[in-house]
Amino acid sequence: MSTPDFTSPSTVIQDLKGQIGKAVILRGWVANKREGKGIVFIILRDGTGFCQCVVTADSSSEMDLAAAQSVSLETSVVLKGLVLADEKQVGGVELQVTSVEVVGVSENYPIAKKEHGIEFLMDQRHLWLRSTRQWAIMRIRNTIIFAIHEYFQGQGFVQMDAPIFTGNACEGTSTLFETDFYGEPAFLSQSGQLYGEAMAMAMGRIYTFGPTFRAEKSKTRRHLSEFWMIEPEMAFYDIFQNMDCIEGFLQHVVGKVLEKCEHELETIGRDVSVLKSSLGTFPRMTYDQAVRIIKGEEDVNGVNSIKSLEEELLRCEQQLAAIDAEIAEREAKVATPGMKKGEINFHQTKITQLKQEKSDVEEDLRNIPQWIGSAKNFQYGDDFGGSDETVLTRLFDRPVMVYDWPHEVKAFYLKRNPEDARFARGVDVLAPEGYGEIVGGGERETDVDLLTSKIEEHQLPMEAFEWYLDLRRYGSVPHAGFGLGLERLVTWVCKLKHVRESIPFPRMYGRLKP
Ligand code: 4AD
Ligand code: MG
Repeated sequence: MSTPDFTSPSTVIQDLKGQIGKAVILRGWVANKREGKGIVFIILRDGTGFCQCVVTADSSSEMDLAAAQSVSLETSVVLKGLVLADEKQVGGVELQVTSVEVVGVSENYPIAKKEHGIEFLMDQRHLWLRSTRQWAIMRIRNTIIFAIHEYFQGQGFVQMDAPIFTGNACEGTSTLFETDFYGEPAFLSQSGQLYGEAMAMAMGRIYTFGPTFRAEKSKTRRHLSEFWMIEPEMAFYDIFQNMDCIEGFLQHVVGKVLEKCEHELETIGRDVSVLKSSLGTFPRMTYDQAVRIIKGEEDVNGVNSIKSLEEELLRCEQQLAAIDAEIAEREAKVATPGMKKGEINFHQTKITQLKQEKSDVEEDLRNIPQWIGSAKNFQYGDDFGGSDETVLTRLFDRPVMVYDWPHEVKAFYLKRNPEDARFARGVDVLAPEGYGEIVGGGERETDVDLLTSKIEEHQLPMEAFEWYLDLRRYGSVPHAGFGLGLERLVTWVCKLKHVRESIPFPRMYGRLKP
């Protein structure tokens, strides 16, 4: 092995398209390798993309070919070569390699190409992040983060950092992580909102972007114990201006993902039609109307929630029967004597795909009856559960905003609807395709007496909120804001099954490592 050349400037894979015909140096890891007689195909990844690199006896020395033959999965290498146009390849180029230098060997890489269980992959998260799909998700997450700052900075909002150690519960006391702060009890912040409100009175319009913590002992596909929240807060905004802000913001972010992450979205197989329709106006409805829709008392564009679920249940049953029949047929073919190896492989790959489809359909078959049940039995006045949100959002091709909630189910700080005090001016944004809540927000109570009585009603310690009440004592103004859960947004944009793949190192009930 010769000494790797780290001195000359290297090219990154994402820029190769502009380098056709030129000699370049690529530095990265072996994501995949295929070998033939006197030829090695390396799929190199360097973080910016993937590129097929071809090493042959013609274009490189015997030593380089031997080095290429020796590399195993995830070995790090420096490859020099010529960039050739090749429309068949991802990115439209490939590298004709002239020299191969191994930087770090990788023996028995634990993540093979075969299917692994999710717990194994979660244990290997530090390595799993290198895989194509995780790479694409993390790049989309990055684009979303950048677009969030871009939007608010562009609108003149001031970014602020709220403290993580806090003395107050913002979202109720049941989900607090308690810690020791020099002998005094402190909590990890559930939300930066209260501090955001103080800052909005100093700056006008602000947003926080930081980690927040919820101690929920629930293993659902949408709950993390540590998640990142974006919380804008705007002085002199009412709930309707708040909804305008949410809509413009989400449209901007989704638009940027569509613009910048075409390749990543394709890599993860995301059907982008719903993302595209999400660039249009979001339906707004009151809690009352949403309840009627969930219970099947009001249709959406001629579609009834309960009836459409019942029809879907039937479709799933038929689909399951069809999948079973196809699996049986292909298994019979595989077992036929004299079948060629290539054909057997072909059928077996199809069988594996069909089994995955089958388990998805089976999951729907388990879920749909539950959704129907909870939709039919929904009690007016209750908060929405996961299945209620699913029933509602499956009827739309873009996020929906539900506002004016029964005040009993919402946080203490929300303002009452001045025309109907049964309702608090909260707004939830529910993502389509069954995803549900991604944003919670609303207009804030401005009256110090009403707020004091709410704090008492919620049995929160008054002395911890004295500073917050000051915001109403000294120049109180109407104001509103919201909180977007970053991971919930990434999960929906990427259409992931579980929020755990939307963050590099998830922290959730039962998972603290790696
Ligand atoms: O609806 P939540 O609890 O609202 C607040 O915290 C307000 N203080 C926000 C505000 O008005 N400034 O949480 C806001 C969002 C949810 O809509 C959801 O997207 C996300 O935070 N979220 C979670 N994400 C992942 N795991 C959890 N356990 C989450 N809990 C809330
Ligand atoms: Mg909420």
